[in-house]
Amino acid sequence: MSAYPEHLDVEAIRADFPALARTVRNDNPLVYLDSGATSQKPVQVLDAERTFYERHNAAAHRGTHLLGEEATDVYEGARAKVAAFLGADVDEVVFTKNATEAINLVAYAMSNDRSGSFRVGPGDEILITEMEHHANLVPWQQLCERTGATLRWLDVTPEGRLDLDHLDAMITGRTKIVAVTHQSNVTGTIPPVAEIARAAHEKGALVLADAAQSVPHQPVDVAALGVDFLAFSAHKMLGPYGIGVLFGRAGLLEAMPPFLTGGSMIEVVRMEGSTFLPPPQRFEPGVPAVAEAAGLAAAVDYLSALGMGNVAAHEESLTAHALDALREIDGLRILGPDTTKDRGGAVAFEVEGVHPHDVGQVLDELGIAVRTGHHCAWPLHRALGVQASTRATFYVYNTHGEVDALADGIRYAQRFFKAG
Ligand SMILES: Cc1ncc(COP(=O)(O)O)c(C=O)c1O
Repeated sequence: MSAYPEHLDVEAIRADFPALARTVRNDNPLVYLDSGATSQKPVQVLDAERTFYERHNAAAHRGTHLLGEEATDVYEGARAKVAAFLGADVDEVVFTKNATEAINLVAYAMSNDRSGSFRVGPGDEILITEMEHHANLVPWQQLCERTGATLRWLDVTPEGRLDLDHLDAMITGRTKIVAVTHQSNVTGTIPPVAEIARAAHEKGALVLADAAQSVPHQPVDVAALGVDFLAFSAHKMLGPYGIGVLFGRAGLLEAMPPFLTGGSMIEVVRMEGSTFLPPPQRFEPGVPAVAEAAGLAAAVDYLSALGMGNVAAHEESLTAHALDALREIDGLRILGPDTTKDRGGAVAFEVEGVHPHDVGQVLDELGIAVRTGHHCAWPLHRALGVQASTRATFYVYNTHGEVDALADGIRYAQRFFKAG
């Protein structure tokens, strides 16, 4: 029996992904290990978008005609599906462009609240971590610059975990929000978000989880996590570009001022001023991305049919294999935890004597797609003592054979550059 158990019928899954059947450089089969950047899309998602355009295309929430009604049903049906997937109420799901916009929405609302409970000002604190993707870092820096609030952060340990020794001290009576990743896109680390949320709530702070790398890869239940906000993108979970999700607790969304404004989000408009619809419409100005919502709903169906527990188990098996295989390579250092405990399927590493871009280029010549650079997490790389890294990320369609191909490819790069 293999040391790495199978939890999914990967060959059947791969047949749903047309891109995985193509060859790439030097006629090599594509080994796609860059799903952390964006996932490939199954035919079910492509068909859902195509069917929408072919049969139901109209602007949702407008038009009294049949197609308009059908488009509204597709859009609101997608919202209901996402809500069920997260264990949320339907009105707690706001469609955004992506995770980045979802986080900006919250950060902007906090500086745009002139009187309410979201108001942030000098003396207030925003707590983030050194592990964040820039999408969950720069918006908070900007919020602090606009309001005079102070940005604080939890450090990362040399192992790539969050240093929680001083968590209680770091969350003070002035902390307005704690914004933390639910799974690092570099080290795969899964911080204890539920524990952080409990500590934050005890001090009256709100909690936002950046779930861009968790919702696609593990079961996520917003009530069990205890977060107030949660953000993710469809394109990393088999869905299309251009649509993401902000989950927000109902009472909070209700109290929040809008972010982007215009049509579709208003109640009454007069030349002197306007009033706004309740959430989620308050946060969805303009003609909505209905085809993308249809694609996201199909992605949710696809993942639900596999079972998110099985998805997580499959990735854990691949990650265990990758950690074992990469550990064997002289001169290779894995960034982050070297066991699968509280760790997802992002494996970043440095190869002594070979620049990450060179590693990536050699792997690309072999048909292996990985990401190189700082992966939009520059402070985390600094904390781990590197400028850049090479990163392999796994998903439902990856195989153990591809993990072996990665390890062989790295050895080949070492020989090519006479390193290791
Ligand atoms: C952890 C994390 N947060 C946020 C984002 C931003 O996602 P998007 O670019 O889809 O908004 C990413 C994308 O790589 C990510 O990995």
